[in-house]
Amino acid sequence: MIDTQKLQRYFEIGDSCVKAVDNVDLSIAAGEFVAVMGPSGSGKSTLLYVLGAMDRPTAGSVSINNRRLDLMNDQQCSDFRNRELGFVFQSFHLLPRMNLIRNTELPMIYAQAEPASRRARAEQLLKAVGLGDRMDRLPTELSGGQCQRAAIARALVNGPKLLLADEPTGNLDSRTGLEIIGIFQALNRAGMTVVMVTHDENMAEHAGRIIRMCDGRVEHIENVARPLLSQLPESIENSLREVSGAA
Ligand SMILES: Nc1ncnc2c1ncn2[C@@H]1O[C@H](COP(=O)(O)OP(=O)(O)OP(=O)(O)O)[C@@H](O)[C@H]1O
Ligand SMILES: [Mg+2]
Repeated sequence: MIDTQKLQRYFEIGDSCVKAVDNVDLSIAAGEFVAVMGPSGSGKSTLLYVLGAMDRPTAGSVSINNRRLDLMNDQQCSDFRNRELGFVFQSFHLLPRMNLIRNTELPMIYAQAEPASRRARAEQLLKAVGLGDRMDRLPTELSGGQCQRAAIARALVNGPKLLLADEPTGNLDSRTGLEIIGIFQALNRAGMTVVMVTHDENMAEHAGRIIRMCDGRVEHIENVARPLLSQLPESIENSLREVSGAA
């Protein structure tokens, strides 16, 4: 699913050069749930943005589903992001003046989907993440955990097979954070490949592998025993399986 070779992302600032991602060779199979950890500044977000076609490598190659991102032009990158990838961010990135349905529909608007199908799909996704009774609310009327669930609905709306998350539990208390990880695990059981950057060992231990970065390099990769979180209610588990494009 993900393959990088000698991947580099350097930032030139004045005379100095920051090697944010430094010769990373990485291979992640379809259906994996991977956590990326490492100290602040070790290059986790930069790596995730390059994998997500939001940033371009300085050198090296990056393939997602056998498509070479490093060879795409800007338009191809943005189409690829919109149609094939889902993103979840620490601070949710919901638009404050739009209700949850509108927020969730947005990636479908960029993909030029029909209004009726957009709305039906957004409702289906919001119900699947347990927000069926909040669909007409504004993000400002919701808790952090609810906002993050709406952001997950938005990330899934175009049926991606790969979900990329940058500190998705960073703004949440640990109990709410584990609810979000439970949703990722359920999506992963339905076939979704998940790559999640996190500072938090308690969150990372629920992935299948942990990639540890230091100074832009992959320092260590370990398999995790992967404690299963208490199962989600069966209705949510089933509806996540139904809406998951990876199923
Ligand atoms: N746009 C940029 N311009 C210049 N330097 C950058 C830029 N983005 C990142 N860097 C530098 O690249 C290095 C890696 O940054 P990155 O944000 O990827 O780290 P991180 O591991 O995600 O850290 P954190 O845990 O604090 O989020 C840092 O030294 C950072 O200052
Ligand atoms: Mg970061």
